[in-house]
Amino acid sequence: MNAQTRTLLDQLSSERRAEIEAHVERSLSELSLEQKVGQLNQVNADFATGTAVGDMDLEQGILDGDIGSVLNCKDLEEARRLQELAVEESDHGVPLVLALDVIHGHRTIFPIPLGEAASWDPELAELSARVAAVEAAANGVQWTFAPSVDVSRDPRWGRVMEAAGEDPYLSGALSNARVRGFQGDDLTADDTVLACAKHYVGYGASEAGREYNTVDVSETNLREIHLPPFEASLEAGVGSVMNAFNLYERIPASSNGELVNELLRGELGFEDLVVSDWNSFGELLEHGVAEDLRDVARACIEAGSDVDMVSGAYATELVGLVEDGVVDESLVDQAVRRLLTVKGALGLFEDPYRYFDEERRSERTLTDEHREAAREVARASQVLLKNDDELLPLSGDDEIALVGGLADSATDMLGAWRAEGTPDDVTTLRTTLTDRVESLTYVEGCDRDGAVSDEQLEAAVETVASAEVAVVAVGERYSQSGEAASRAHLDLPGDQRALLQALLETGTPVAAVLFSGRPLAIDWEAEHVPAILEAWFPGVEAGPAIADVLLGAYNPSGRLPMTFPITEGQIPIYYNRLKTGRPAEDADVDLTEPPADHAEKYVSRYLDVPNEPLYAFGHGESYTDFAYTDVSLGATTITPEDSLSIDVAVENTGDRAGTEVVQVYVRDPVGSRARPVRELVRFENATLAAGESATVSFELTTADLAFWTANEEYAAEPGEFEVQVGHAADDIAVVETFELAE
Ligand code: NOJ
Repeated sequence: MNAQTRTLLDQLSSERRAEIEAHVERSLSELSLEQKVGQLNQVNADFATGTAVGDMDLEQGILDGDIGSVLNCKDLEEARRLQELAVEESDHGVPLVLALDVIHGHRTIFPIPLGEAASWDPELAELSARVAAVEAAANGVQWTFAPSVDVSRDPRWGRVMEAAGEDPYLSGALSNARVRGFQGDDLTADDTVLACAKHYVGYGASEAGREYNTVDVSETNLREIHLPPFEASLEAGVGSVMNAFNLYERIPASSNGELVNELLRGELGFEDLVVSDWNSFGELLEHGVAEDLRDVARACIEAGSDVDMVSGAYATELVGLVEDGVVDESLVDQAVRRLLTVKGALGLFEDPYRYFDEERRSERTLTDEHREAAREVARASQVLLKNDDELLPLSGDDEIALVGGLADSATDMLGAWRAEGTPDDVTTLRTTLTDRVESLTYVEGCDRDGAVSDEQLEAAVETVASAEVAVVAVGERYSQSGEAASRAHLDLPGDQRALLQALLETGTPVAAVLFSGRPLAIDWEAEHVPAILEAWFPGVEAGPAIADVLLGAYNPSGRLPMTFPITEGQIPIYYNRLKTGRPAEDADVDLTEPPADHAEKYVSRYLDVPNEPLYAFGHGESYTDFAYTDVSLGATTITPEDSLSIDVAVENTGDRAGTEVVQVYVRDPVGSRARPVRELVRFENATLAAGESATVSFELTTADLAFWTANEEYAAEPGEFEVQVGHAADDIAVVETFELAE
């Protein structure tokens, strides 16, 4: 794990770099201590994405030089006005930088990031971030607090919707693409925005999936599971990183010098901006690691955190801390230098108004091209969880009953973190199917929140009974995932299971379309409903994208980026697990039955559920079939300097074109620390015509085999390795071994 970090300055020509550095140093020398501290203070504008903190008047604060950046200003005119106050009316004239959470689209809303991750397609992730950046920048935003790169193994945690799932490598590939999409290759351009990798680090390990809860990860897991997507973002040149809310080794991430100064800056080489999360500085008081706000400010600046989002700790305390000789002014200077470098890189010194252009806004917002991109990503993000007897795709000539409040709920399709997304922009499944299906009857069946009245049930049963096939939209509401939206029960909310049961009893075949911001525990549904399509929250093009899959215009190719448990009791459940000292899998035990004897009992298992998940990481069906016929390695032994080629022969054995996500895993059976049963190291989308075969080639280096060893270094240890290739983490088709020599 050698980060090839690209700093903001690295990304510039030498002239431009020198220009910005000179400008930054000049500004620094001209600012008073109070003004420098003001730069580090970030204040909220018109709508809050957290509970209210601080009481600084925005306008007065800008005029007084006490504010360096603003978040959540959504109005272009207002943004320009604030910038004018900073540039023309404050004493120092330093421009503001304006930030917003643009997570999966600005106005043209794309699938939630977890859904997009199911595409296993970095090009699509880059595309959606690109479109988001074009629209955000045209709407006055210069800095997005995205991508979220939190790896999580706990679907109870609501924020799994906003990142890329459970795997460090897949998350890294997608995070890297998202950063490139947001930042483009010229941050001064009027269609790029500064990205922010968040939440640094370990937030996805919130205990029991409860939001803002304690985190306790080992250094090994921190380095191997939680850190890689940050490194991948640094390689892409991300210009900012956000502190997480959680503790690491019982010290909050915001004031954790080991995390920020030593690991992020020292070891990983990140030189740019670290911003706190919403009041995460202030929360040191609640964590009980600081006496008062003064102590908070000291701890956070010393740890290397630069910008204070809304807590006011820096604004009220830093000047005094410097004047009293407690904090060295050079620490303040260094933090301000990083923020000014960001402002320089964004081109704000030359033209602080470059992002405020009414005409550009109307030309670049919600264009046909952007909607087309949203549809492309939404199609690729859907995962066909099951499809008994090839119930799907449906024919447009069938008499179809469409059921479920979510089938016609524009607002739910946008998911959480919708920036400027507007329900009026959404095409729902009902709208599209009404257009495309000859004979469609829609009946609500249940409310959007899953409540079913007797009348709704009766009408739905009647309608479905007389149809040839039923499409039933079920799942969560958008507000049931996202920040502060943990759930302890992951079944379908309300009476949706009972509704499905009643509809199945009619004998009419039922295909369920599932909306959710997370993996759900849908064991019963998986057993009884013949076809299930996971659509996540697909965005503005929900209807067309889902209809493309339901009606066969698009062959589903999404694969799960996160494991679906059978029941909440299995959580945390993930594919890259350790073997344990008593692996039930090797004991040849039927885990679906209670243990019959000692040998069956004293292994790592439950008495009442299998160890295996409902749907594994990497799982997803297609309307065609793929077979792996061979994997061949370029060598049986490699040295640490060599690379290893892997050729995988894959064939579309079905009768229609489709895309297989070829997944390559590696297992290191013996290491100085216990190693996972498999780890994803490469993947590739292979699109094959009916009957077509192809060889998909990969190249591994020793870096792909490295881990955090017992010597506390990243290294690949000599010995045997296994290459496992297949459809999913639980469906490995071909295996080969090779040796890494000393
Ligand atoms: C809190 C969230 O944790 C963070 O992701 C977000 O960027 C900030 N609020 C600002 O909205």
